[in-house]
Amino acid sequence: MKVLTILGARPQFIKAAAVSRVIREEVTELIVHTGQHYDANMSDIFFEELNIPKPDYHLGIGSGNHGKQTGEMLAKIEEIILTETPDFVLVYGDTNSTLAGALAAAKLHVPIVHIEAGLRSFNKKMPEEVNRILTDHISTLLLCPTDTAIQNLTNEHISEGVYNVGDVMYDAVLYNKELAASSTTILERENLTAKDYLLITIHRAENTDDVDRMKSILDAFSQIPDKKVWPIHPRTKHKLEDYGFKLDQIPNLYVIEPVGYLDMLSLETNAKKIVTDSGGVQKEAYFAEVPCVTVRDQTEWVETLIEDANILTGTDTDKIVAAVNKKVTPSYTPVFGDGKTSEKVLALLKEYLA
Ligand code: UD1
Ligand code: UDP
Repeated sequence: MKVLTILGARPQFIKAAAVSRVIREEVTELIVHTGQHYDANMSDIFFEELNIPKPDYHLGIGSGNHGKQTGEMLAKIEEIILTETPDFVLVYGDTNSTLAGALAAAKLHVPIVHIEAGLRSFNKKMPEEVNRILTDHISTLLLCPTDTAIQNLTNEHISEGVYNVGDVMYDAVLYNKELAASSTTILERENLTAKDYLLITIHRAENTDDVDRMKSILDAFSQIPDKKVWPIHPRTKHKLEDYGFKLDQIPNLYVIEPVGYLDMLSLETNAKKIVTDSGGVQKEAYFAEVPCVTVRDQTEWVETLIEDANILTGTDTDKIVAAVNKKVTPSYTPVFGDGKTSEKVLALLKEYLA
């Protein structure tokens, strides 16, 4: 069995590390890195740290407007599919790399496996929502992380090839958490005390590309006296420079470069609270049982909202401050599978071909 895996963005490297390790025991996997993320701390670090096999193809597409970026990926992935004639094309999540890989495969009638299928925010202004809806509607195996995802697909009349396999990010956390726990270097390096700081990540286009939303978020950070550590995504860094916002005027805010996955797990686990707009970080906060505040208007990870484990605030300054200050004591129930998602993916690939 030959599987062509398409990757390009940071969360996809982390998901693929978990799945590749398992499927490679029985499958020939070829990896295509689109080059959507290319800085060493957005790409190489994950391949090295998580032992992801070196990509067989590196497309070097880089940044650009959606049409150009996705279109260039599509043309190049098509050539690779024609050369390699895989049994499946495997895509993860909801990025432009996901859509390009799925579209190239669909046109050539190659079965598509979509990991993290069925998620919906119901906001089509988000590029991720468009990418995931289109990908789901042309996928052959739709591997969902939750029952909510299955229900979303049912609502769109998609039922064939749909399975709840659990969340592959949970596999990744379980596999790496001991290693992350044994390394407290990041806390020492950044002079952080466990449970005495907030961890911040903001990068979604719906926030970064809107000057008013960013101002509102930064105003909230100015009103929160706690120590705040923020590994900043390059998109956010560039946008804040364009807007002329000065982060060094925000009290007790420590902006650092993006960190590797193990350092990130360590920062998450030891944080007092997490403030984010990331999809993956919302879930990791839940896995680590660290309360989360999500500065978005919708979340596709609705399970995390139970008992204020994750509070959805949008970008209203007062709501963010109130949510950060709120004392919450949720009881965390396992809703993202059993950490054996990758094994289920392999079994379903084999079953489909048989
Ligand atoms: C992409 C995904 C988003 C995902 C995120 C994960 C799409 C539409 N969006 O958003 O769903 O949550 O990845 O992190 O696919 N940049 C660099 N160096 C890099 C990568 C990006 O400087 O290595 C900067 C560039 O200025 C670029 C901007 O970040 O224009 C945005 O990068 P892009 O890959 O287009 O989207 P993300 O915001 O990273
Ligand atoms: N992450 C990381 N270093 C960072 C920020 C995030 O390793 O500096 C990891 C995080 O632990 C999670 C994933 O990247 O596993 C989430 O990716 P991101 O927030 O970029 O995208 P999203 O999940 O929103 O698509």
